[in-house]
Parts: sequence; C-alpha cells; structure tokens
Amino acid sequence: MEPDDLLVCERVTKQFGALAAVKELSFAARRGEILGIGGPNGAGKTTLFDVLSGLNEATSGRVLLDGRDITRAAPEAICHAGIARTFQLNACFDSLTVRENVQVGAVFGRAASGLPGLRPSAEAEAATQEALALVGLADKGDVVAGALPVLDRKLLMLAGAMATRPKLLLMDEPVGGLTHAEIDLMMETVRRIKAQGVTIILIEHVMRFLVALSDRVMILHHGERIYEGPAAGLARDRTVVDVYLGEGASARLAALLPEPAP
Ligand SMILES: Nc1ncnc2c1ncn2[C@@H]1O[C@H](COP(=O)(O)OP(=O)(O)OP(=O)(O)O)[C@@H](O)[C@H]1O
Ligand SMILES: [Mg+2]
Repeated sequence: MEPDDLLVCERVTKQFGALAAVKELSFAARRGEILGIGGPNGAGKTTLFDVLSGLNEATSGRVLLDGRDITRAAPEAICHAGIARTFQLNACFDSLTVRENVQVGAVFGRAASGLPGLRPSAEAEAATQEALALVGLADKGDVVAGALPVLDRKLLMLAGAMATRPKLLLMDEPVGGLTHAEIDLMMETVRRIKAQGVTIILIEHVMRFLVALSDRVMILHHGERIYEGPAAGLARDRTVVDVYLGEGASARLAALLPEPAP
C-alpha cells in the first residue's frame, strides 16, 4: 500500500451463484483524485460499489480504507469510517423536505453526532447547510423531495452523502438521463467537491463527463479490469474500443481528448 492510497481493494470477488460479478479485482484510489470507472452494462460496476459500501459482502478479498480493513463492516460503520455514496436510481425520502433529507445524512451518517430523536446538533445543522449550499439547493430547503425535478433529486442525493463529511465519495452514474446543460452543472458540482479534498470514485457511461473529470480511468468488463490509466489512452486502446466504446463512440471520444504526446 502506498501512502497516497486512501482506498485499496485486494483481489475482491463478489459471486452471485455461479456468476462472478466482480472477479479478483485489485486497485487503489489515491487521496484527492477522481478515479473514473466505465464499462458495459453488467460489468460489475455497481456491484463493486455495493461491496465497498457494505451493502453486499465480498465473497473474498479485502477492502482497506486508510489502512483499516472494512471488508466485513456494516454499511453504517463504513459510512462512519468515511465512505459515502450515491445511487444509480434516485434514492430520496420523498415525503421529507430537502433539508430533512440532508439532515438524515448529517445526523446518522457520522458517529457521535447527537442523539437520534432529539434536535440535530449544531454540528449536524452546519453540515446540512454546508451540503445544501455545496450542491446549490440552499434555496429549496423547504421543498418536499418528491416534488423535485430529476436534476435536483440527484443533487439532493449528493447533498445527503456530503452531509456525512466523507473522505471518499462513490458516485454511481450521477448524470444518467440529464441534459447537456445539466451535465455541465453536475460537472461543476463534482469539481467543487474535489476542491474540498474529497477523494471520488465515479461510475459513468457518459464519456464526456467521465473523461473531463477523471484523473485516472478504470474500465471493467465481466468483473475484471481491462484498462487502467489516463482517460487520454481510452480511445486508442483496442480492447476498450472492441468491448465497450465501439468505433463510433471511440472516434467521438478521440475528438474530445488531448493529442497523445509525440
Ligand atoms: N443481487 C444480485 N443477484 C444476482 N445477480 C446480480 C445481483 N446484482 C447484480 N447482479 C448481476 O451482476 C452483474 C453485474 O451487475 P452490476 O449491476 O454490478 O453491473 P453494472 O456494471 O453496474 O451495469 P450498469 O452499467 O447496467 O449499471 C450483472 O450480471 C447482474 O445481473
Ligand atoms: Mg450499475
């Protein structure tokens, strides 16, 4: 393990019956970076997040956060240890207001942040306000979450995660279904989070978003890594083009990327 590594996965496997959704996968996320994850549908990306966040226990292998083994820890313990996540499908408490949704993260997402059932502590209140401002929802605190348009729902889920004050943020397809302008707004939001020093692992099919934000990219296929390196190398990698991008998307991606060094 390098001193720069915040999260280390060692030969992680997640088996569903005969199917290895994640297979002997080893990688690290370095402190302060954005690690992008791509790959075809069913590649095991979300399953990997489920293992990292404790929703689904790894069949074998180890997950270390800051050198501490969290492989078999419960989701709330992993959250308290500093990993927060968002979900591919929107997960909010629809009948609660925007502020109340974020308070759930601020109160329960951290160890010893006040007694449940009592008023949120001053610290939890500060974390709530900060998270709402960070994603641009400060003016909508009293709106009922169920009434929000899709972009705001995604931002709300992100605010709930950020209210736990994570070291590592896992984002599962944050811009799926958003318009071009909305994707740009989400990009700015992610950059603000990175600027706070939070390490981010980002799953996304929208290559424009993934490539613009990621310091490094890892592509999964059938639970295994087929590429790890700079985004600039993606469009030229034969395996990535064959199993994921295809020729058309690869050409469009190449146009977005800087020229390779001579
Ligand atoms: N709870 C489960 N039980 C059985 N099989 C599962 C379960 N969860 C996921 N799988 C299978 O594991 C494989 C990986 O699924 P996963 O959702 O991780 O893919 P993904 O890379 O996130 O795909 P997408 O890009 O479509 O979101 C798929 O074949 C899926 O059907
Ligand atoms: Mg998925």
